[in-house]
Amino acid sequence: MIKKIAILTSGGDAPGMNAAIRAIVKSAHCNNIETYVVKQGYLGLYKGDIVKVNNDDIEHILNLGGTFIFSARFPEFKDIANRKIAKKNLDKLGIDALVVIGGDGSYKGAQKLSELGINSIALPGTIDNDIASTDFTIGFFTAWNTIVNSIAQIRDTMNSHHRIGIVEVMGNKCQDLSFFSGISSDVDYTAMPDEVLTAKDVARIYEISKKNKKNSCLILVTEKTYKNIHEFASKIEKETKVVTRATSLGHIQRGGMPVPMDKYIATMMGNKAVELLIAGKSSRCIGIVNNKFVDYDIERALDQPRTNRTEMVRIINKINR
Ligand code: ADP
Ligand code: F6P
Repeated sequence: MIKKIAILTSGGDAPGMNAAIRAIVKSAHCNNIETYVVKQGYLGLYKGDIVKVNNDDIEHILNLGGTFIFSARFPEFKDIANRKIAKKNLDKLGIDALVVIGGDGSYKGAQKLSELGINSIALPGTIDNDIASTDFTIGFFTAWNTIVNSIAQIRDTMNSHHRIGIVEVMGNKCQDLSFFSGISSDVDYTAMPDEVLTAKDVARIYEISKKNKKNSCLILVTEKTYKNIHEFASKIEKETKVVTRATSLGHIQRGGMPVPMDKYIATMMGNKAVELLIAGKSSRCIGIVNNKFVDYDIERALDQPRTNRTEMVRIINKINR
């Protein structure tokens, strides 16, 4: 029976990570298990920055964006020597289990730690929704909501000036933030991560929007597609002779109070992580699939292919124009 659980958040932070931490701490205490938090992900595990937490430490965090135990990217964790130091730090405190909240990179870290004998469970925490073993990740719903609201605001001002607008969203090469935001926004065209539009392509989309008597033309593109989104806007302006403005939504997509759906999945997954550890499971990751909370072996989960949205995006682009 496990006695002490540590929790860490790793990779890009995501709204709802705090709700997951809260659920883990509360569920653990209901089962007389002590809880610890590791500051700054695997970096803190390596440095031994681990502190004990009780229910009163997490009382206020349900609605907080970000992660109150901080996150980090620590590529040096790929080195087994550093993971061994991390294990020693856990052993010193008698910690026998770890819950990692993060994306697929963080999953790999958790899997490698379980090979060293640490009971590890991974929860999907990333705005990108790029983990194939779950329909949705913690943080995705909030980022999606932020994007849709931002696009509506940009459309207002583009309409007022009869402009072309380019909106760039995050996603780290995953199609989901673009796809789900495009389908629920008033954009004329949604370009997926692998689609590089030219100024001439945009001019064609603009002509259709004019024919459809729209006051402006709005195009959603994904980060890492254009080196400089403002230079792309200038090229479009030259091609169309229509004033064009680009907005990269940037890190506002990562912050903010989690929406209810993120708090819901975070809480259910946090509770399930403790249940799995009590049942003696390790190297498992949790997901929500077809409305059920499920768990998989981490290595097998990482091998699953992601859902491809390319066909579905054609439907959006037909309906939205
Ligand atoms: P995410 O978890 O959001 O995908 P990263 O890919 O940056 O973000 O991974 C987060 C952290 O997980 C890395 O900074 C590193 O500490 C750890 N990590 C990533 N890949 C591995 C690996 N192959 N082995 C051990 N740790 C890893
Ligand atoms: O993984 C989340 C994410 O926000 C990606 O969408 C984006 O590509 C990346 O992190 C940005 O990372 P950073 O905050 O380190 O620039």
